[in-house]
Amino acid sequence: MDDTILKIRGLKTQFFTSKGVVPAVDGVDVTVRAGEAVGLVGESGCGKSMTAMSVMQLLQHPGRVVEGEIWLKDRNLLELSKREMCDVRGNEISMIFQEPMTSLNPVFTIGKQVMEAVRQHQDVSKEEAKKIAIDIFRRIGIPEPEKRFYSYPHQLSGGLRQRVMIGMAMVCNPSLMICDEPTTALDVTIEAQILYLIKEMQKEKGTAVIMITHNLGVVAESCDYVYVMYAGKIMEEASVFEIFENPTHPYTYGLLNSIPKTTEVKDHLFTIRGLVPNLLSLPKGCRFCTRCDKAMQICTEYEPDLYDIGDGHKVRCFLANKEVMESGK
Ligand SMILES: Nc1ncnc2c1ncn2[C@@H]1O[C@H](COP(=O)(O)OP(=O)(O)OP(=O)(O)O)[C@@H](O)[C@H]1O
Ligand SMILES: [Mg+2]
Repeated sequence: MDDTILKIRGLKTQFFTSKGVVPAVDGVDVTVRAGEAVGLVGESGCGKSMTAMSVMQLLQHPGRVVEGEIWLKDRNLLELSKREMCDVRGNEISMIFQEPMTSLNPVFTIGKQVMEAVRQHQDVSKEEAKKIAIDIFRRIGIPEPEKRFYSYPHQLSGGLRQRVMIGMAMVCNPSLMICDEPTTALDVTIEAQILYLIKEMQKEKGTAVIMITHNLGVVAESCDYVYVMYAGKIMEEASVFEIFENPTHPYTYGLLNSIPKTTEVKDHLFTIRGLVPNLLSLPKGCRFCTRCDKAMQICTEYEPDLYDIGDGHKVRCFLANKEVMESGK
């Protein structure tokens, strides 16, 4: 049975700026199956959010999807009308942003907002909707839910606001939830609680999750499969176990090595040398070659494909290409 929920193929999203065309997402393939949690990791500016915004079709001018397909089950989202896309956003895909203040309406109480969401999805009276909303607040761990029902978003802490957003998503019962750095603005204990809530929802309702983060620790906690992105392209993808056990792209290796380990005492933390390249002037060949300690001659001339090395593990690096390695270029 094909239980694929989301299938992104050859997605290219570009920004048409006065300085030139910025290839923010440059030919990305991502597959998400029902109930699966997929991580999207990479340094700042590598195109994680723009991939998500392309799926949601919330790109701001001058950004535009210029190529590719985004299949939600059997519909290509890029072919839907604005109205149909609005329905998709309200019912089938929910997105949770880094700063929930941006997606909550500041002039209405959180109770009213969740109640409205309930009434959009269920044919119930106002009183019943209120009861359901308060129940949800209780479930997501909002203290004194009856009282908090009348709070405005600005009266809540960031952690509580993020809980409300997850509650809102629960009401919509989407088949896919995209979480874009949902815990970056929160402290670690709250982070753990929010990740737990997302996992609960995934388990209970079979919701598929895309977890966007620059934090591989979050991926290890919450994902089954992971895509590592760099400068608009997927550089490596594999199950989370495989990525941690057998990281193959030097970039992934660098990301993993820059996680501080509490069991080791080091004078300094490992960092990947250099900076993310300007997307308007990418290096020739592999886009990571200018920062790669293992770069060979060929890496500065040709761009590697995403090579399949088995067990669902793919790597965009010549080190993973036997022919290249045997020819000793
Ligand atoms: N309004 C814009 N105009 C021009 N380029 C843009 C614009 N918005 C985004 N970009 C380009 O898109 C690239 C990808 O941005 P994106 O927000 O997807 O990065 P990200 O991986 O989510 O980073 P972060 O971890 O910081 O959230 C950026 O490097 C930038 O070059
Ligand atoms: Mg982002």
